[in-house]
Amino acid sequence: MSENVHPKSTSLAEFEKAANEKLPEFVRTYYSHPGEGGQTYRDNCRAFKRYRLVPRNLRDVYIRDTSVTVLGSKLNLPVAIAPTSIHKLGHPEAERATARGAASMNTAMVLSSWSHFSLEQVAAAAPRGVLWFYLLFYRDRGRMKRLLERAERAGYTAIVLTVDTPLFPFSLRRKPVVYPIQFSLPNIWLDDVAPGLPGSTEHDAYLKKIVKEAATWEDVKWVKNNTRLPIVLKGILSAEDARTAMDLGVSGIYVSNHGGREQDGVPATIDVLPDIVRAVGGEAEVYLDGGVRTGTDVLKALALGARCVFIGRPALWGLACNGAEGVQRVLQIMKDELSLAMARAGCAKISDIQPSLVVHQSYYGVPPMAKY
Ligand SMILES: Cc1cc2nc3c(=O)[nH]c(=O)nc-3n(C[C@H](O)[C@H](O)[C@H](O)COP(=O)(O)O)c2cc1C
Repeated sequence: MSENVHPKSTSLAEFEKAANEKLPEFVRTYYSHPGEGGQTYRDNCRAFKRYRLVPRNLRDVYIRDTSVTVLGSKLNLPVAIAPTSIHKLGHPEAERATARGAASMNTAMVLSSWSHFSLEQVAAAAPRGVLWFYLLFYRDRGRMKRLLERAERAGYTAIVLTVDTPLFPFSLRRKPVVYPIQFSLPNIWLDDVAPGLPGSTEHDAYLKKIVKEAATWEDVKWVKNNTRLPIVLKGILSAEDARTAMDLGVSGIYVSNHGGREQDGVPATIDVLPDIVRAVGGEAEVYLDGGVRTGTDVLKALALGARCVFIGRPALWGLACNGAEGVQRVLQIMKDELSLAMARAGCAKISDIQPSLVVHQSYYGVPPMAKY
């Protein structure tokens, strides 16, 4: 199939459909994988619809500014790219294309450790991009230190620690996985000669030996003390954890349930956001991902206190459809939809987006089981 599949898609839903038509079954399943029962995965999207917008009219919104500053970097829109693994399954240019797409829209991307290209190669592909690095916890702290230094040298501006994954697929798999293409994991293999291909029993055993599962607050503290970069904790869902993170001097709290791929049955991220924002009390920036698919979703998350939101699967759909241009188009759609939603809500700039803009549907007596 040609590279330029559906370049004219005008919504994220169209991109999802186009990507799913293009991708082989295996990759489609891997990308959309909704966790065990899929409850959280579905609820992430539905939950946004439980919040209603109460617009303000007759304000001068002819010109809107969607730019925002996130950890000191100015982004043209408050929508950035969440860390996702193995972009090579979606496009041969993999994470380099995603980074170029994000940079062309002047927004940020979090590079996953599970990437086909090294963190230096990705930085070189998007020299003006704002890049953060998702670092795995390793048993050997020397390995972590070397990766932190490499990320600093390559120009990454934050370290993301994902805290909602105490166990990884490699230690839970009962049988090997055969990926339909070959890829490497240079941010994990370092100088080692990793045995077997990713997904093989030997490779899983190797990962189990080097990756530290069930990390604790001690590991977060160690990272904080061993880098000059700000730390963002991804996967926070409780106000208590957010407070503990504040005590450790973390710079960003990233509310996430891993897009419903980890623990099923946890709340939708938009539902827990207000509690977390309250707990953080302005001491750090708060971000959110999970089910963000439209400009009004972004508007609601910002009104409830997120400084910026992240998209996971939608970036992969864009990448699969049309490489860097597909990623750029997905972000452009989000920017255009947000700008229009801001106009209709009476907001000319991001700081005009206030909590009073959003009301939970229960206020209007809408029954909780109503379907949309
Ligand atoms: C294919 C795929 C791979 C992912 N890999 C990672 C990862 O390596 N590290 C991580 O912290 N989160 C990972 N995530 C979770 C995303 O960062 C993000 O939390 C989630 O996709 C957001 O939900 P959304 O897809 O509805 O936007 C992955 C998600 C997907 C769909």
